[in-house]
Amino acid sequence: MTRRDYLQLVAAASAAAAASPARAAAGDADREARLKWWHEARFGMFIHWGLYSQLGRHEWAMEEEGIPIEEYQKLAASFHPKPNAARAWAQLAKQAGQKYMVMTTKHHEGFCNFDTKLTDYCAPKQGPGRDLVKEYVEAARAEGMRVGFYYSLMDWHHPDGARCATDEAARRRFVDYIHGQIRELLTNYGKIDVLWYDVNWPLNVAGWESEKMNDMVFQLQPQILVNNRNGLPGDFTTPEQTIRASNDQAWESCMTMNGSWGYHKADDDWKTPKTIVRNLVTCARDTGNYLLNIGPTGDGSIPPESVAILTSVGRWMARNGDRIHKSEKCQVTRSTFANFTREGNTLFMHVHFWPGETVALGGLTNQVKSARLAATGKEVKFVQEKFRVRFTGLPEKAPDDPVTTIAIECDGEPHQDQNAIRTGRTRFRVGV
Ligand code: GLC
Repeated sequence: MTRRDYLQLVAAASAAAAASPARAAAGDADREARLKWWHEARFGMFIHWGLYSQLGRHEWAMEEEGIPIEEYQKLAASFHPKPNAARAWAQLAKQAGQKYMVMTTKHHEGFCNFDTKLTDYCAPKQGPGRDLVKEYVEAARAEGMRVGFYYSLMDWHHPDGARCATDEAARRRFVDYIHGQIRELLTNYGKIDVLWYDVNWPLNVAGWESEKMNDMVFQLQPQILVNNRNGLPGDFTTPEQTIRASNDQAWESCMTMNGSWGYHKADDDWKTPKTIVRNLVTCARDTGNYLLNIGPTGDGSIPPESVAILTSVGRWMARNGDRIHKSEKCQVTRSTFANFTREGNTLFMHVHFWPGETVALGGLTNQVKSARLAATGKEVKFVQEKFRVRFTGLPEKAPDDPVTTIAIECDGEPHQDQNAIRTGRTRFRVGV
């Protein structure tokens, strides 16, 4: 074999690998097309709901408290959620300005909220006596929500869930089980928009057969989006409890409203509606998504604190939601009392700590053409100097709640040069 023959052979082999459906589906153009609705959505509802919701001590209670499996699995018999609890979730999501939902179909505890032929440890065959995922899918669609499935690869209940790491026969059984359940989920509920894998302990990409997993997923649901938690890059990254923009991939920050994903009745560490809106604006500024969690109780009720927060966020979204859904990458970031989004040549200054009748912005390099209050369209007067724009004649008290947005129309794409204020400002002689 000549060197050229050899190189041709290598090239052919890698072309064949690249032709696998998962790879093809992951092509940039195709990915952008699949991500279009998701980017415009920007704001989604995460729902953590399972047997742990009855305990009300966080979804990790089983492991953190070392609860024996025989004891824990009794929760499957006592799980009696009210019918169609998911309708209230979907209505709240819609009212909050969220556009998609992602629900736990199986969390680490191993209990399946869906109908599966592969285990009896599932809602239709236990306390609920019905398919909770089906109810969720129908409720989400009824409110025009896109539908996502969270699915934990790690499983604390399955007999092979840990020993699969050291015993090949166990790994084979367990991986067949996991792939089989994903196949069921993506076959039995119509079009699914997002598959949200979680925790790939204790195997690696080869052990989980993640390439094959994604191939199957895209074969069953060609338009679906998958995250990166089966060990492959997927369509988007998933910073957790933090906002971290990725420069080379779509990203979604997932976050709790208190400190727990699953219902935790004593966790009173609630974020304010202002914090939630600020986070949402920060995600939108850098073209990321915000997936905000609710942890319903065992009967499916949403904790009243979560309802109150989302209701308040929803009132703001009703007036300002377009700014979130239509935002484009925004270069302007610096202010101690505001954050920013952009649409074309318009900069939106989202003021969370309202300074009073004058609001100032430093370092804008554009000429301002006009300014208005975004929620009402009311004109705002302004004075522009070299390094500062002052918006004047504003009310002493913030006109909107929890954040007031000023729309600033510029003569080009808004750009801020904070450094120019330091270097370019006229300085006076002091001791030199
Ligand atoms: C973590 C936790 C889990 C939660 C998830 C959400 O991986 O293990 O409980 O579901 O994050 O991002």
